[in-house]
Amino acid sequence: MAIKYSPTVIEHFTNPQNVGEIENADAAATEGSPACGDMLTFTLKVDPESHVIEDVRFRSYGCASNISTASMATVLAKGKPVEEVKNFNAKIISEKLGGLPATKMHCSVLAVNGLKAAIKQWEINNGLAEEEEIQCNVTTIKKLLKHVINPQTGKNIISMGMINFIKIDGAKVFIEVNLGDTEDMYAENIRDEITETIESMKCLEEVVVRILDRQKFEIKDNNGV
Ligand code: FES
Repeated sequence: MAIKYSPTVIEHFTNPQNVGEIENADAAATEGSPACGDMLTFTLKVDPESHVIEDVRFRSYGCASNISTASMATVLAKGKPVEEVKNFNAKIISEKLGGLPATKMHCSVLAVNGLKAAIKQWEINNGLAEEEEIQCNVTTIKKLLKHVINPQTGKNIISMGMINFIKIDGAKVFIEVNLGDTEDMYAENIRDEITETIESMKCLEEVVVRILDRQKFEIKDNNGV
């Protein structure tokens, strides 16, 4: 089925704003999506006194939703203090775009996370924040899983209460997911996104994701695991 986009999404995709890279930027960050493997980079210029974003640009290797969200995020961020832009989220930006299909919400999460990562880098460069050391524990995993979007609803799997448990055993982690009202057809997408998100932590060697359907039957992945 063809995906329907709002006129604003189409406008920002066909005529994206603030594309490119700032020379001698104050900060830069590249983010990748575990869901699709796409990437994007943001560069920033920030006024050192007022902390207002003077310029922000992006380069996307993502899809139409990603380009539109990144474009809208830069339009909204320009001229605003970093403290305000840090509160941006995928929902706010997608609403400004007239909505995004639920299966495309991860693309907007990627764009917003990229912008926030550039801001964080600017804060680190200016001694306003410290590089976070990733702790290999359940709390960190839950935090990361907030980036995994249920393609049916466009909401993250933590806020939807889809995680039954997370158990770390040495370098292995077991995660049990309940699909609830989510269609079985989205199970593999969710499994892949969880696996790739957790693998980005680098401290765990094996990720086992068990997914239960509405009747609490296990959904095996394509390898029968
Ligand atoms: Fe990869 Fe949209 S499908 S960013």
